[in-house]
Amino acid sequence: MTQQTLFEIAPRFVNRSTKMVTFQGKLDLPIHRWYRLTPSFSPRLAADIALEFKLNENDFVLDPFSGVGTVPLCMKHRGIPSCSVEINPYLHFVGTVKTKTYSDLDAVRDVLLDFSTSAERELNRLPDERQAENFLAENAAFVPALHNVRRWWSPGNLMQLVCLRRLLLAYKAAPDLHDLLKLGLLAILIPVSNAKHNHVSLTFAETPLETVDVAAILRRKYAEMLYDLEAVRKLPQAEVAVYRGNSRFLTAVLPKSRRASAVITSPPYPNRFSYARETRPHLFFFKFIENAEAVGQLETDAIGGTWGRATSVLAAGVEPKNDVVRSQLSPYVKNIHPKGDLMASYVTKYFNDIYDHAEQTSMVCEERCRLAYVIGNSKFYDQPLPSDEILGAIFQHFGFRLDRIDKMRKRQSKSGLYEAVVFMSR
Ligand SMILES: C[S@@+](CC[C@H](N)C(=O)[O-])C[C@H]1O[C@@H](n2cnc3c(N)ncnc32)[C@H](O)[C@@H]1O
Repeated sequence: MTQQTLFEIAPRFVNRSTKMVTFQGKLDLPIHRWYRLTPSFSPRLAADIALEFKLNENDFVLDPFSGVGTVPLCMKHRGIPSCSVEINPYLHFVGTVKTKTYSDLDAVRDVLLDFSTSAERELNRLPDERQAENFLAENAAFVPALHNVRRWWSPGNLMQLVCLRRLLLAYKAAPDLHDLLKLGLLAILIPVSNAKHNHVSLTFAETPLETVDVAAILRRKYAEMLYDLEAVRKLPQAEVAVYRGNSRFLTAVLPKSRRASAVITSPPYPNRFSYARETRPHLFFFKFIENAEAVGQLETDAIGGTWGRATSVLAAGVEPKNDVVRSQLSPYVKNIHPKGDLMASYVTKYFNDIYDHAEQTSMVCEERCRLAYVIGNSKFYDQPLPSDEILGAIFQHFGFRLDRIDKMRKRQSKSGLYEAVVFMSR
């Protein structure tokens, strides 16, 4: 398979106003489709930007907001060295596993088949679903410590997941292969749950999902993963690293030895979407995070975090950290302020954090570099907030040139909401 057939773009993916720039543009792409994160973009967009920047094997691309690793995975298969940074430990895991090179596909096949077979055997031995509560009580140590866990999964499905979790934790395999097994299991948590992807955020279905054959769903997921790894085998496999850390402190996260010649990224949008909230079943299922306090800390550290304890930080009031942020925000925050201090604080913290990030980006990029930030604007109490323009102005303060802002697509049904690519350079 060649690059062209993988991305089905030739020679340039110029139409950025389609839903193919969103997560929907990756649902049929090998590896990219393993785990669905709705607010993630398509590798088609990342590839399009890489072509526009004329990047090649001598470049080094940074994605400071890695999400599920779309940019590093896309660059890897285009032969362009890259690295990324992600604060959420579960999403960091997804990006790491997806971007690894698995050269011994026979070993991958053996492990996936062997675990699928063990899984079927173990699940066949489980009691009738009417006994599920007894089973869960006896295996309480393996039930994820997720708030209201029975809302997420019907008893019969939770019993199977708990059994698979116990099986996987005891299963012996090389670390890379164990991680593949783990990612496959994490990827089916939502498909076998009572939650639905009807909106940007997960919502609960009115009718809980009946008991399904979880082992069969897992076997299909592993088959897809193996198929995809075989499909990309002949593509370039450029160097890639996914770091766990905070992009407000990039200099502490990235190795000093190499500076980025390009940044292709999408930070959280200032729209109160919570990545920690969205990924909480996964965060708790394999203890990527131990307790509610740690989730609160993750939200407070993340840009745009708003869930749980992060809200108390906002409720205490947030002031612009300096005149640059103040002057950028004053035309907008004064309109938001009379209606809600919390929202004004939310927007202020968001851009205080973007300011820190922009300063750090200026330190980890080469003197000559090109940047593309995909960001959505927002509305608070019907007051528009042009996040793309404000972000561009903050980066200008650190010596970057604002080349252009491509407004690419309208979002949701609310009028005036759009996504844009902010192109900058130095
Ligand atoms: C819009 S998503 C990126 C999606 C990504 N382009 C993809 O396709 O998967 C923004 C990401 O930034 C992460 N994030 C938020 N604050 C961060 C920070 N301070 N440092 C690093 N990552 C952060 C979030 O956890 C989320 O995964």
